[in-house]
Amino acid sequence: MSSAALSFPVSQRQDPLPVDQREAVLASPGFGKTFTDHMVLATWTAERGWHDGKVTAYGPLSLDPSAAVLHYAQEIFEGMKAYRHVDGSVWTFRPEANAARFARSAGRLALPVLPEADFVESLRALVTADEAWVPSGDGGEASLYLRPFMFASEAFLGVRPARQVTYCVIASPAGPYFASGLKPVSIWLSTAYTRAAPGGTGAAKCGGNYAASLAAQVEATANGCDQVAFLDAVERRWVEELGGMNLYFVHRDGSIVTPELTGTILEGITRSSILELAEELGHQVKERRISIQEWREGVASGDITEVFACGTAAVVTPVGRLAWEGGEMLIGDPEVDGGVGPVTAGLRQALLDVQYGRTPDTRGWLTRLT
Ligand SMILES: Cc1ncc(COP(=O)(O)O)c(C=O)c1O
Repeated sequence: MSSAALSFPVSQRQDPLPVDQREAVLASPGFGKTFTDHMVLATWTAERGWHDGKVTAYGPLSLDPSAAVLHYAQEIFEGMKAYRHVDGSVWTFRPEANAARFARSAGRLALPVLPEADFVESLRALVTADEAWVPSGDGGEASLYLRPFMFASEAFLGVRPARQVTYCVIASPAGPYFASGLKPVSIWLSTAYTRAAPGGTGAAKCGGNYAASLAAQVEATANGCDQVAFLDAVERRWVEELGGMNLYFVHRDGSIVTPELTGTILEGITRSSILELAEELGHQVKERRISIQEWREGVASGDITEVFACGTAAVVTPVGRLAWEGGEMLIGDPEVDGGVGPVTAGLRQALLDVQYGRTPDTRGWLTRLT
């Protein structure tokens, strides 16, 4: 990795959250509700490139009402975590993969690329300043969620790539995604809406994709489901992914399948990691297209024994129910191990063990932050 061109000098906040209040937050952080004392900022302009990197007090940003992002949604983001190991050190997982995806997203949204070294350095700078906000990893699954993002901050109403862009990283302590323990989620199959079309932005992590998924998520909630699953936009037949997670199917013979990357699916870093871990755990792994018919018939015949979703926030999560307009089916048995199938549980554990340093990091997936 080349060395960072940007530096992120720290302006220590004069009024950090008092220790007892921070400890109270860390005892029960929830998800995405409370933010650390500092944030990273950097600016890009067409004239000067990247400059003015800094770590400064967390707080509201001042934006001109004509800032392009507010009108045309020229924005991208990433989601990753910092994990505290038992010896107190703090690590993150495959940041170069997030940096590469951020660069691909930037390309699709006509935003400037932030070099990998600067991306990783910005995370290190923030986590070093707010190290006390990284929860203890002891036995649990608490972490510091990191949210790097970049948006068009130029004050101009023309539709063209902005000539001024802001990069920011904020951080939020996160408890286990499922406060009451891991339990299967229910999925609504959206037939009214699609998430991404060929040639569109499905493979980019841009805010607009999530705005466009909300109506489908509202429909899912109205139908008693936790999450929404999307089909491809052309044939309305191939299973793509959830609003914020990738999907895997486990077969009776132990082989596992995930929808192949077609340009309309977000390439999850958890998804890629599971492709490798599953093979190591002795599963045959395939990336290929899976039709909704294959999903339904496979569960009905017993050929598909487990379905799980995966992503940084929730790691690996069993899917217990699929519902659609006029029907539903159950996957797995809630009476056996709370509906968490053995393959799902094994992969989840294997991934967490690497992230929390409980098993040797044979692939160099971890980067030390502090
Ligand atoms: C649409 C979508 N798919 C998949 C994922 C999973 O990606 P990752 O494993 O990198 O968190 C996410 C979350 O980032 C997502 O938003």
